[in-house]
Amino acid sequence: MLSAVFPLVRPLLHALDAETAHAVTVGALAWLPVRRPPADDPRLGVTVISRDFPNPVGLAAGFDKGARAPDALLGLGFGFVEVGGVVPLPQPGNPRPRVFRLPEDGAVINRFGLNSEGLAVVRARLAARRGRQGIVGVNIGANKDSADRLADYVACTRGLAGLVDFITVNVSSPNTPGLRDLQGEAFLDDLLARVVAARDEVGRDPGRRTAVLLKIAPDLGLDGLDAMAATARRRGVDALVVSNTTVARPASLAGAAKGETGGLSGRPLFSPSTRLLAEAYLRVGTALPLIGVGGVDSAEAAWTKIRAGASLVQLYSALVYAGPGLVGEIKAGLLRRMEAEGISRVTDVVGRDAAELARAA
Ligand code: FNR
Repeated sequence: MLSAVFPLVRPLLHALDAETAHAVTVGALAWLPVRRPPADDPRLGVTVISRDFPNPVGLAAGFDKGARAPDALLGLGFGFVEVGGVVPLPQPGNPRPRVFRLPEDGAVINRFGLNSEGLAVVRARLAARRGRQGIVGVNIGANKDSADRLADYVACTRGLAGLVDFITVNVSSPNTPGLRDLQGEAFLDDLLARVVAARDEVGRDPGRRTAVLLKIAPDLGLDGLDAMAATARRRGVDALVVSNTTVARPASLAGAAKGETGGLSGRPLFSPSTRLLAEAYLRVGTALPLIGVGGVDSAEAAWTKIRAGASLVQLYSALVYAGPGLVGEIKAGLLRRMEAEGISRVTDVVGRDAAELARAA
C-alpha cells in the first residue's frame, strides 16, 4: 500500500526540507497499522549471527533513530531493521539544517551528530515490542560531551542487550568530533572487550544472545582495516558492518549541497564502500560475517555487495528517492539473477568475486 502511494506523495515530501520530510514519514509509519509482509522465498534466507534472516535486505541505522516504528518498517519487507543510533543521555545533535538531498547524485549529506532521545526512551520502546517477530538491532554511540565514551557504549549495551537481536558499535560516524578516533587499535580493543563483557553479563536467555557488530568507516585505509578486523575477531565480535558514510567528496558530485560538511551516503558511496567490503572479505572470509552498506539502490547493487562478501546488505539513502517499493524490487531482482545463473541459495554467491571487486575502480 505504502509503495503504491509513494510516487504520489514524493513530490510533496521533497517540497519539504529533508529533515521535516523524514519526520513526517517516520511519524506516519509509527501511526499506521502494522502489516505482516508476505513470506519471503526461502532461497533468499540467510543464517548468520545465530539468526535466520528471511531475506538479506535490511534497513540501515539512522532512519529510525528513536525506534518508533521498527515493526512497520519490517512490514515494508525488510529482512531486518537497525534502529538508532542511540546514546545514553538525550542530546539535540547539530543545529538545523543538518541533512541535505543531492538528487542529481542519488546521494545525501548529513551532519545530525547523533541526535537522540536517549537510552531510556529507546529502551522502553524496544522493551514494549519484545517477543514480536522480526529481526531488530540497535546502533549505539557516545554522547558528544561524554567524559568517558567507553562507559557510554557499555551503558547502552547493558541497557539494550537481551531486547534486540544485535547491537552495532558505531565508532565510524563522522559527525561527532573525535568519535572516529575510537577506531584506533588500543582503544578499540578495550572498547570491544568491555562491550562484549557487558553483553555477556546481561545474559538474558542464552539461546537468544544479542550479537555484537562493529561498524566501520569507508575512509579507513587498508592498515586500519587489518587492525580493526583482527581486533574484532580477537574480541569475539559477531559481524562487521561496512560501511558508514564518507567524509570524501568525489569530483563527480553535481548536487548544489555538495559542499556541505557531513557524511556522504547513497550512490557515490557505492564503489568505495564495496571495495572496502571486498577487502574485508579477503581478510576474514566467512569467519566474520559482513553486512554491506553504502549506495545499495537496486538488485544489481545488492548482488554486487553480496558477491563482494556481504552475507546481508542494508540501505538508507535510496529509500529517499525510490521509496519503499525498492525493497520488493531488490528481492525480486535478486531471485531473477539467481535463476539466470542457476543459483539455488543467495548465500552461495557470498564473496564469490571479492578479489575482482577489491581491485575494481
Ligand atoms: C546515517 N547513518 C548512520 N549510521 C550509524 O551508524 N548511526 C547513525 O545514527 C546513522 N545516522 C544516519 C543518518 C542519516 C540521515 C543518514 C543518511 C545515514 C549511516 C547509514 O546507516 C549508512 O551506513 C549510510 O547511509 C550508507 O548507506 P546508504 O545510505 O548509502 O544506503
